[in-house]
Amino acid sequence: MSRALLEVTGLTKSYPGSGRGIFRKSRVPVLRGIDLCIAPGEVLGLVGESGSGKSTLGKTVLKLIDADKGTVRFDGRDLAGLSKEELRTARKDMQIIFQDPYASLDPRKPIRAVLSEALDTHNLHTGERREARLKELMDMVGLSPEFLGRLPHEFSGGQRQRVGIARAIAVEPRFIVADEAVSALDVSIQAQVLNLLADLRAKTGISLLFISHDLSVVRFISDRVMVLYLGRVMEIGPADDVHFKPAHPYTAALVSAEPGLKPKPGRVRLTGEIPSPANPPSGCVFRTRCPYAMDACAAEVPKLRRLGKTRFSACIRDDIPTGAQ
Ligand SMILES: Nc1ncnc2c1ncn2[C@@H]1O[C@H](COP(=O)(O)OP(=O)(O)OP(=O)(O)O)[C@@H](O)[C@H]1O
Ligand code: SF4
Ligand SMILES: [Mg+2]
Repeated sequence: MSRALLEVTGLTKSYPGSGRGIFRKSRVPVLRGIDLCIAPGEVLGLVGESGSGKSTLGKTVLKLIDADKGTVRFDGRDLAGLSKEELRTARKDMQIIFQDPYASLDPRKPIRAVLSEALDTHNLHTGERREARLKELMDMVGLSPEFLGRLPHEFSGGQRQRVGIARAIAVEPRFIVADEAVSALDVSIQAQVLNLLADLRAKTGISLLFISHDLSVVRFISDRVMVLYLGRVMEIGPADDVHFKPAHPYTAALVSAEPGLKPKPGRVRLTGEIPSPANPPSGCVFRTRCPYAMDACAAEVPKLRRLGKTRFSACIRDDIPTGAQ
């Protein structure tokens, strides 16, 4: 494999606990030693229920928030070692597309200003070249250049997300975190925006960390998929393998929870809520909801075991029939 564009090792992040004074809980662990790498041009999907730590991981790899421990290397450079100025320059290569196309655009700013601002941040293009670039960007995301003067409220949800994508690609980044980028959209519009992202990836060779709670959406666009639960990696592997032949009971449960699937023997049903990260189960964090749990699952945190060339699962058992779809 070519050298990783993004390489994350042992990433750990906690937030301050709730409560006051002596009742204050110590820090709440949200990411608990995450390793991942993304190759140039690769799309890594990140899936897991609400609260599993997906957004925290996305923001930490972009250094929008600081990790407690661990390293993030981008193009071989440790982001923690960069000066403010170097980090500002590195940011040109690393962009984010937000979950909510409504909330992430200033209602008083026409799209021309939104995109120009992105170019200004890195002093890119002036005069005629700027105008041409703005039109080119609109074209790339399937919007008419005539819409450059429009305000966000004059666009539909899907069009606004296209604007969000145009803003992210304006500075020609090499890596984008797309955090629930299509979750707020209707299903048919979701497909259009996913196709747009897939096209852009094919044309520009950009890498993506594509975050969603919906495994079928993630599979559509990703080369590999990583499954997160309570801040730990449960499974990682090629997208189709993870979706169609899940190795980990939690992945199997996510697959079974997809709409339209009929109950079938061997399917893992996800019951109950995800436990609070303030009070995670010992050993395997999934054990309180896992139908295959046994005493040994409480004793130690299961290591990621290699199942194939790029396939790993963090379950101590290998006698679980989760592959049945
Ligand atoms: N700024 C913060 N301060 C304290 N706790 C936080 C903060 N941000 C997130 N958390 C907590 O960290 C955990 C992980 O949150 P995160 O937003 O990363 O999860 P997520 O997988 O993105 O969830 P969702 O699918 O709902 O977006 C949650 O328990 C959340 O309450
Ligand atoms: S280690 Fe045990 S509790 Fe965890 S997923 Fe495997 S069988 Fe279930
Ligand atoms: Mg999130």
